Parts: sequence; C-alpha cells; structure tokens
Amino acid sequence: MHKGKDPNKFYQQRQSLLRLELSRRRIKAFLVTEIKNIRYLTGFRGSTALLLVTDRELFFITDFRYKEQCMREVKGCSIIIPKGSLLTATKMLLKKMRFKTLAFEKDASFRIYDTLRKDFTLKPLDAVVEKLRQKKDKEEIKSIIKAVQRAENAFVKVKKHIRVGVTERTIALRLEEAIKREGAYQIPFDVIVASGENSALPHARPTDRKLRPGDLLIIDWGAEADGYFSDITRTFLLRGKNTEKKREIYRIVLEANRMAIKAVKPGLRAKDIDSIAREFIKDSGYGDFFGHGTGHGVGLDIHESPRLSFLGKDILEDGMVFTIEPGIYLPGTGGVRIEDMVYLEKGKPRVITRLGRRLEIL
Ligand code: GLY
Ligand code: MN
Ligand code: MN
Repeated sequence: MHKGKDPNKFYQQRQSLLRLELSRRRIKAFLVTEIKNIRYLTGFRGSTALLLVTDRELFFITDFRYKEQCMREVKGCSIIIPKGSLLTATKMLLKKMRFKTLAFEKDASFRIYDTLRKDFTLKPLDAVVEKLRQKKDKEEIKSIIKAVQRAENAFVKVKKHIRVGVTERTIALRLEEAIKREGAYQIPFDVIVASGENSALPHARPTDRKLRPGDLLIIDWGAEADGYFSDITRTFLLRGKNTEKKREIYRIVLEANRMAIKAVKPGLRAKDIDSIAREFIKDSGYGDFFGHGTGHGVGLDIHESPRLSFLGKDILEDGMVFTIEPGIYLPGTGGVRIEDMVYLEKGKPRVITRLGRRLEIL
C-alpha cells in the first residue's frame, strides 16, 4: 500500500481506534447516531443513516435514497437498506445477534432512546467519537487547509470592494458568493460583517448600515472542503478621525492572539490557553469586554472540542486543530476580534490561516 495514497486507510484507522476504545470499555455493540460521526467513521456524505458497531462487524444502515451513494462512499461496513424504519431494522439485527446490552450516543434523540429501551439495557456514551475527531489525521488536515485557502482566496477578492458607503449586507453577500465560487459546497455559518457600533456585538448579523469613516469593521467567515470547515476573523479600520482608542484595543487583541498561539503545546489544558489571552486583556484594562471563549476545535463541525474556554476540560494534543480568537467589544465604540486557526503539529503550533494580522486601514 502506498503510504498516504489510499483513502480507505484513514477510515480503517478511525474504525480501529473506535473498536479499541469500545473494547477498553467492554462494549460489544454501539449505535452511532450523529451523522457527522458516521461520516467520520465511514465516509458517508448523506444526511440519514445509522451505524452499528459490534465487536465483529460494522453495519451501515440507510434508506433507499442513498443506495448508490453509500456503495461508493461507505468504507469498511456491511450495508443494510431496509424497506421500513432504520431503527426497527437495527433493533431486529441486534436481536438476531442476541445482543442484550447496547451502548448509544448520549446526544441521540429521545425518540431513539425510547424505541430502544424496551428491548435493551442501554448504556450512554458521552463524546466517544467526538474525542477521536479532536485529533485530525493527514487527510483531514489537507481538507482543513483547503477550506482555509478557499476562505482566504474568497476574501482577497471581496476586500477590494470594501470602502466607506458600502453596506454590511453587500459585503456579506459578495463574500458568501465568492466562498462558493472557490469551490465550497457549504457556508459553515452566515458570514458576519459588523461595522461601527455593530462591531461591539460579537455575533452581529449584517445590516444595511453603510460603512463610515473611522469605523471598526469585523468580518468573520469560513469555507468548506470535503465536509471540513474553516473559521477566520479579521478586523479593519476605516480611515477616519479619533481612532486612537480603536487602535489601542486592536493592539491588545493582537497581542492576546499572539501570546495565546505562542503558548500552545501538547499537554497543556485548553483552558490554560484561554487564561493567557483573558489575563492579558484583563491586565490591559478591558477584562469586562471579552465575554466569549478564546477558541474551539474546527473540523466536520464548525464548533467542536477542544473548547478553549474556562469551562474546557480538554488537554491539548498533537493533531488538534482549533481557533484562537480573542476580542474586545466596547459598546458604542466598536469591537475587535482576530481569529486564526492553529494546527498542533509535532509539539508546535502551526498557524494555518495565512492572512496578515497587522491593523489594515481601508
Ligand atoms: N464564527 C463563529 C466563531 O468564530 O466561533
Ligand atoms: Mn470561531
Ligand atoms: Mn469565526
């Protein structure tokens, strides 16, 4: 086998890591219901399926709409396409194999739980596949880098049109179109374009407000490649008067971003990175104006673990990809956020976003 050339290899690897974890927990049957987890384990890109992982075999269960698609996409599973409900078919299959106990994903719906509890002793598992997904393999890194490039290429095209008088909505629309023109099938989240006083809202929606001289302008956007996402924020200043305070908060946020990235290393708690950015902003006098976490994992979901917040329990490990995105938001004045994506590679942080971070005056 050519190393790195066989896409099946990555799915085999993910499946065996899951099996290992299940056997460590003495689990013989596990029902995966989260569609992104199913995609991660099998390669299936559709929207409806169940995956039953037993100690002997993987069963991929979907409906007739996906018959052709799953033959092409799904790796390492026996495919089952029942006539009726997927869940009923799964139940029958488990009974046929004489399973009495079944592990399931804690985030499964109540409907699933309610259907299964009559027939099996159920054991909830919290974030088992999500935990595997934290550490990206080479194939995933390639896709994430592609998603970053698409986002950045799209932005460079749209940036030329940013000037006083243009509305937030116009910029957002142009950017969303450009992201898709770069090849993304999806926009991971509605593009955020927030100017002037609106930029003090961390997750503002684009409005018809026209850019004015002296505005801070936050743009937060991402793209997709092979199902993987990217997430970037840049803040600009529009040429104008009385911008000293705005420049000051920019300098502080940029320094917080740099310090947090520099500190990234395996073995650290994700929340320690958050503290580094947070303490710096606090010591600079703006502690009350940074209300969100410092970052989050990015992959098949735009927000996944590790969580770089004071709540985050995760430990940083090689292979993780996450954002570093400190911000300061001053009501009435405006806000600054600088968001980069970092790949923890061989013990060191590698910043995979390439756009500059120095304050640009537009
Ligand atoms: N765009 C959402 C975030 O930065 O987390
Ligand atoms: Mn983010
Ligand atoms: Mn973002």
